Amino acid sequence: MKATARAHTNIALVKYWGKRDDALVLPCNNSISLTLDAFYTTTSVEFCDHLNDDVILLNGLIVDEREQHKISRFLDIVRSAAGTSVHAVVKSVNHVPTAAGFASSASGFAALAAAAMKALDLPLDEQAMSLMARRGSGSACRSVYGGFVEWLKGERKDGSDSYAVPLAAQDYWDLRVMAVTLSAGVKEVSSREGMKRTVDTSPFYNGWLQSVEHDLRNVRQAIAERDFAMLGRTAEANALKMHASMFAANPPIIYWHSATVDVIRRVKELRTAGIPAYFTIDAGPNVKVLCEPKDEIAVRSALLSVPDVLAVTVCRPGPGVTFLQGA
Ligand code: DP6
Repeated sequence: MKATARAHTNIALVKYWGKRDDALVLPCNNSISLTLDAFYTTTSVEFCDHLNDDVILLNGLIVDEREQHKISRFLDIVRSAAGTSVHAVVKSVNHVPTAAGFASSASGFAALAAAAMKALDLPLDEQAMSLMARRGSGSACRSVYGGFVEWLKGERKDGSDSYAVPLAAQDYWDLRVMAVTLSAGVKEVSSREGMKRTVDTSPFYNGWLQSVEHDLRNVRQAIAERDFAMLGRTAEANALKMHASMFAANPPIIYWHSATVDVIRRVKELRTAGIPAYFTIDAGPNVKVLCEPKDEIAVRSALLSVPDVLAVTVCRPGPGVTFLQGA
């Protein structure tokens, strides 16, 4: 009745943006990500007969009501798959460098899904874990695997064919992803709300959807051929298209801060100077910069010299879900 699992965050190179089914968390498009080694979540789940409700601790503190509700509803899905109604004690620890401020829903729900499924003796193949993690947060379904991962949007109404598949293992391609933290406040619009508003109101959302297939093909090919320029160019363009679709939403969604644009400019200057580096941005002001290992030091110091950059954390390709013994 007890298990502990660890999962790492991932950065999307072709983004997931927009759902075709909100309740089942089914996306409008496939997405491709790279799992990162530097940020991860470790979660233990213990189901106990005597509890009246779930007890959920994040980094040693009881979570607020909203978070409690979200996690308990997710645990209901796991419980119903196992045919039980027993409540659980969940202890989750986010290993994110101080002040990094990166969203942890991907690693959080991947670790929670894996630990809860193991604790309830559900089948633990990766496809089953990915299907379950998806119900907590879409991007979490990709964190089940290490390395490069594609989330298949699926066609079925019940979502049974919407899960992640591995494209290339953690050690396939040694790349660097610099996680650039800016001195910006918390984001005002969650990605869940932001993508819904974009789907419902942005005149550019169809343009986003039409161009995604092309980006998916290019990124798959770039991975297969280890073509860094093609990977970086496509990821950067894809992120900009996603943000352009949000700028046109009503009301508009602008996650960027002035320092976000400063980092974008610095990355372009690096390229002009002959150093291949490319950026991507999720639903927030922080930026991630891709580069090759040989350029790690030059890229990091160029990013650190941008005013309002608080930290630059160097990430490498990371592993998929693992279970911790005796915890
Ligand atoms: C911009 O997975 O956090 O990071 O499924 O509603 O929980 P929900 O959304 P979430 O969205 C991630 C959006 C993104 C792009 C991506 O990771 O593909």
